[in-house]
Amino acid sequence: MNQFPYVNSLGPFGDRAPVGAGTMTPPHMPGTRVPRAITPPPRRGVEGQSPLSIRIGLARAVDAKDPSTRRHSERVADLSWVIADVLGWSTSRRTLLHDAALVHDLGKIAIPDEILFKPDELTPHEYETVKGHSRIGAEMLEGVMTSEQVSWVRCHHEWWGGGGYPDGLVGAQIPEGARVIAVADAWDAITSWRPYGGPRSTAQALEECRLSMGTQFWPPAVIALGCTVQSVDD
Ligand SMILES: [Fe+2]
Repeated sequence: MNQFPYVNSLGPFGDRAPVGAGTMTPPHMPGTRVPRAITPPPRRGVEGQSPLSIRIGLARAVDAKDPSTRRHSERVADLSWVIADVLGWSTSRRTLLHDAALVHDLGKIAIPDEILFKPDELTPHEYETVKGHSRIGAEMLEGVMTSEQVSWVRCHHEWWGGGGYPDGLVGAQIPEGARVIAVADAWDAITSWRPYGGPRSTAQALEECRLSMGTQFWPPAVIALGCTVQSVDD
């Protein structure tokens, strides 16, 4: 039996989208290298939920702190949506995940700029301060999002094999949504221009993610990622 039924017949890193992939381009991904098209989350006005436009505004407020990460949160949200689709998540859960991923780095608002953008190596204390952003972001979202969404934000820097933060969780202790956001977050960082290095090619980025399967990343999320990306620049 195929351990990963969502992996298409081309294998875990086949270059085509799996059967059943959608055909619409996600809405917030200008210049992204996650070109696999999929139906975007519906814009809705569910009672008790803020409009999507407000959450996007919050995401842009976070990313505006750092010009090199422009629209990072939106790309991470859209890619999380795509990965979760390959993993077989329902539309309603993918929408919850998209909403949480949009604000996964909200806590960075509380991190002093002189630390967040320090060009030199961080001191151990400064590094601990930066690491606090996932916990702080989750605290900001308590009562605003569901407890599960809050856990996804809190745990998006946990590592599948242990050693992540803020709680040092391991394996199945890490909420599945956080495992997905972690891969999407890393993918966008690897394939985007950053002050410390230019973007990697799709093939290079995939290889980097594959090398961290089982240690940093939950393997099924990386496999799902491999099913979605296309070699547009190779
Ligand atoms: Fe983060």
